[in-house]
Amino acid sequence: MKSKEVREKFIQFFKKKEHKIVSSSSLIPEDDTVLLTTAGMQQFVPYLTGEKSVLSEFKTRHLASVQKCFRTLDIEEIGDDTHYTFFEMLGNWSIGEDEEKGYFKKGAIELAIDFFVNEMGLSKERIYVTVFKGEKGIPRDDEAISIWTDKGFPKERIAEFGTEDNFWGPTSETGPCGPCSEIHYDRGQEYGCLEDCGPNCENCNRFVELWNLVFMEYNMEKDGSYTKLPQKNIDTGIGFERLVSLLQGKDSAYETDLFSSAIKKIEELSGKRYEENKKEFRVIADHARGSIFLIADSVLPSNKGAGYVLRRIIRRMIRYKKEMGIESLNEIVDIFIKEYSEFYHELENKNILKVIQEEEEKFEKTLEDGLKELKRIQEKGAMKNDKIDAGDAFYVYQTFGFPLEMIQEELEKSGLSVDEEKFKEAFYKHQEISRKGAEEKFGGLSKDVGEDEAKLHTATHLLHQALREVLGDHVIQRGSDINRERLRFDFSHSQSLSKEEIMEIERIVNEKIKEDLEVKEEKMSLEKAREKGVIALFQDDKMGDISVYYIGNFSAEACGGPHIKKTSELGKFTIKKEESSGAGVRRIKAVLN
Ligand code: SER
Repeated sequence: MKSKEVREKFIQFFKKKEHKIVSSSSLIPEDDTVLLTTAGMQQFVPYLTGEKSVLSEFKTRHLASVQKCFRTLDIEEIGDDTHYTFFEMLGNWSIGEDEEKGYFKKGAIELAIDFFVNEMGLSKERIYVTVFKGEKGIPRDDEAISIWTDKGFPKERIAEFGTEDNFWGPTSETGPCGPCSEIHYDRGQEYGCLEDCGPNCENCNRFVELWNLVFMEYNMEKDGSYTKLPQKNIDTGIGFERLVSLLQGKDSAYETDLFSSAIKKIEELSGKRYEENKKEFRVIADHARGSIFLIADSVLPSNKGAGYVLRRIIRRMIRYKKEMGIESLNEIVDIFIKEYSEFYHELENKNILKVIQEEEEKFEKTLEDGLKELKRIQEKGAMKNDKIDAGDAFYVYQTFGFPLEMIQEELEKSGLSVDEEKFKEAFYKHQEISRKGAEEKFGGLSKDVGEDEAKLHTATHLLHQALREVLGDHVIQRGSDINRERLRFDFSHSQSLSKEEIMEIERIVNEKIKEDLEVKEEKMSLEKAREKGVIALFQDDKMGDISVYYIGNFSAEACGGPHIKKTSELGKFTIKKEESSGAGVRRIKAVLN
């Protein structure tokens, strides 16, 4: 069955079953506790908790949707059979159980069997289900077990699992959640490890998990406890890519009609074969598809939040396309735009290609220089036990803005790696030095620092961000010095700036001054800073709280202060000089009048 037909049949089936079909919400959720939309239920949270009335909004308790989703947790896993950044989820909801009109476990289970067996043509005998076995103070789901049994599922095809597998949600720290039943499909013994393995087997992929039926009756509170929701809900989700793979008899969606034209195009452009370069082809295809959907939802590459996710996948895609010897991504991107815009009209936005091209231009230069430097480091023979010096790797990170994951991937190709712990030590040491430097200059001495210096300091943050926007995010502060008259700023960049670039940087800084942005300080852990989009590339947080200064939404930078309160106090910003300050480092002197 063609993927388009699967979507269409799903919609028609739930229409027939008197569900209102709701359009997909944006990948950028309204609810700001999550960065991106990761499940179909997200747009319905206020209705699921009972905070808003589903009947007033939708005139029915029964909803269904085909939802765009995006998950970033496993970007590094992209390339295997089953991971994608962007994916679609088909789901149906019954919000607020109602004796007469709503349905709960029985109704949800009946609909699922009906759709899979009668519409998708799956064999009922191959369907296995899982149910919640009871754990953490929440009882075993006897009700679901007896419904499945009544529907003709023998004991051997009903497996019980705990919270890890059969309790779903919430999507953030708090929110609606509940025990669930999952529908798995047996692809046959030839895919299995042991004769009697079953759903959730860790050693083989004989069973594919297709549909998650969540019996949502709890809310997770801030302290981690569960309270009962004022109403019961059904929340279900089918992994569209997985269902399509199964229906088309493939191990992976990359081999289905969702990707086949793009994969063919990549073969044509690279002159290489998919079979021999699966990982590279899949990364390019996945990231191209993911990028167009983010851009269509108004995300632009940046160093913050969703913009940073987009920048990461575009840059990763560019690295892989170079490796495959592909000149331009345009045709590949275009295939996805054309195919998906039939269903998702927001993709008809003409700017998508342009956004990707601009990001590519910015990245191109940095990439070349950084890869050369990494090669040089490898050749220098500075490795011990197949590890390169963490300080050298940190230099590449700092100078060229290569994330650690990218450095590791590059090194891996020649059997090398960098010790992550040592790398992080180098990072924290650098942070500590920058912090001390800032404190010596400004920190705790704010009374002694004149108004003019504080203004120039705020202007320095604006300049830093403007440089990154114009030149690329390899630009990182390498030094800063302020006196009453001028600021001096050293940053990583290997070429002199053109007149146009200087004018553009000045223009951006002055525009931000005119916008009269507020300057605000917030204390937070490094981890929190990263979540909020202040650039910080590591998962763990070993330092205490840091101060982050926000200038409107334009700049967010960790520093010791002090700053002025509003950018309109700065006056006019002018760059007086741009010169070299050592290898790969440029220096700008600028004034405010
Ligand atoms: N919210 C559940 C999931 O994401 C069912 O849609 O799996």
